[in-house]
Amino acid sequence: MNIAQIATTRRTCKAFDPARKIPDSVLADLKTVLRFAPSSVNSQPWHFVIAGSDAGKETLAATLDGAFAYNAGKVRAASHVVVFCARNALDEAHLNGLLAQEDADGRFATPEAKAGQANSRNFYVSLHRDQLKDADAWADRQIYIALGNLMQAAAALGVDACPMEGIDVLALDKALGLPEKGLRAVVMCALGYGSDQDFNARLPKSRLPAETLFSEI
Ligand SMILES: Cc1cc2nc3c(=O)[nH]c(=O)nc-3n(C[C@H](O)[C@H](O)[C@H](O)COP(=O)(O)O)c2cc1C
Repeated sequence: MNIAQIATTRRTCKAFDPARKIPDSVLADLKTVLRFAPSSVNSQPWHFVIAGSDAGKETLAATLDGAFAYNAGKVRAASHVVVFCARNALDEAHLNGLLAQEDADGRFATPEAKAGQANSRNFYVSLHRDQLKDADAWADRQIYIALGNLMQAAAALGVDACPMEGIDVLALDKALGLPEKGLRAVVMCALGYGSDQDFNARLPKSRLPAETLFSEI
């Protein structure tokens, strides 16, 4: 399948087959996609909690009450569920860790190049934290890039996905002890293989027409 075929045939999975698990090699590829997702100034303001065990998935499903209960069955039946978490602060320890990793990975030919990268990243961190005061929203935007990449990669690998904003982030924070780790839940994505109850698989896709979406200048 080419990229356009993947885009037009992938769909949100509304019911997973609990008997089907993602093979280890495919899961490893999906983790690579998450790890290598791009982010502004390589800030990587994220952490991914992956529930593959029944107990792990139950911990997540138990947070999906009331208005969010419609997503609980998907979490229980999926092969794996990714909780996308944001770092609450891009503190000095995180920024130093990024720079040290880039150094170890051979990104800097000279000390000046390393200083330049540190300065550039510090500028954007300070811009969002101190001036625009949208540091959380900035982190969330990066996380949605990772989510989009994961969904596209899953489709390319024949894995069904259900991205989920219908989640109780505060209940998830509590259930996973995220605040103690400097993290907060943002969005989730269930992965696996659709069952014959997946009504969305039988529905045609619907999108606004291209003429509405694109302007050529
Ligand atoms: C960020 C995001 C959050 C979503 N949250 C949910 C959700 O909580 N539960 C659900 O069943 N579908 C959810 N969806 C699926 C959308 O409804 C779906 O992507 C959209 O209707 C287009 O359909 P398609 O993905 O099958 O092409 C979400 C999709 C995105 C991208």
